[in-house]
Amino acid sequence: MAPNHGLLLYEGKAKRIFDSDKKGQVLVEFKNDTTAFNALKKSSLKGKGILNCQISSHLFELLEAQGVDTHYLGLVSDSWMAAKRVEIIPLEVVVRNIAFGSLCKETPITEGTELSSPLLDLYFKDDSLSDPLLTEARLELLGILSNNQRNEIETLVRKVNLILSTFFEKLDLILVDFKLEIGINAEGRLIVADEISPDTCRIWDARADSSSDRILDKDRFRKDLGGVVEAYAEILKRIQEISPNPRIYK
Ligand code: TMP
Repeated sequence: MAPNHGLLLYEGKAKRIFDSDKKGQVLVEFKNDTTAFNALKKSSLKGKGILNCQISSHLFELLEAQGVDTHYLGLVSDSWMAAKRVEIIPLEVVVRNIAFGSLCKETPITEGTELSSPLLDLYFKDDSLSDPLLTEARLELLGILSNNQRNEIETLVRKVNLILSTFFEKLDLILVDFKLEIGINAEGRLIVADEISPDTCRIWDARADSSSDRILDKDRFRKDLGGVVEAYAEILKRIQEISPNPRIYK
């Protein structure tokens, strides 16, 4: 159920951000809408918004407990969370542990190759340009980050990768790769924002026998494998087996 909220500040493909009556805060609604290939493919999947909101809440709390600053404040209802208002850096920060997706389309590395150390890829967040991969030189040319911030982001996302990969391993889940969005708060601190869900991560089931059965993330939608919501529900079920319910924000 929708909580009391202020004006719609921003609507993305999978979330809406509303003003909150609390200063410096926003309310985030997770939608059932699903898109892929820069919204060329679209659908609405009943229950997806709730699952992604719950999974993101658990994962933000896990990161916070290990000293990572996130925008998350708490759940407001099943598909809504309260978050700190931050300025989002226009980058999609991708960390890859196993080669898949665009890495295998753009290089000769074969799908499923374990990378000897996690690969960090930075993309310019701009739908009209289809989120292009940035070289370090282009990142510098665009002036989006200072050198210090660039290094801080690398340290931050490598720490997030370690925390999430270790957690998922306990659930017999493999974190193949994921995308983070980073915000800056009023004091200039870097904060993990947006969402961390099967829409933004590749997560494989270590208990599955076949390579299509193991996919528990948005690749099920991208590749028309079916069972998208069921796969997301399986991830939440395993998380709930070892984690307490996310906190309710009042
Ligand atoms: P990629 O292999 O297509 O570059 O995707 C890498 C990771 O980033 C994968 O976990 C999916 C995620 N991702 C997003 O969250 N949003 C996007 O728009 C894209 C292209 C990928």
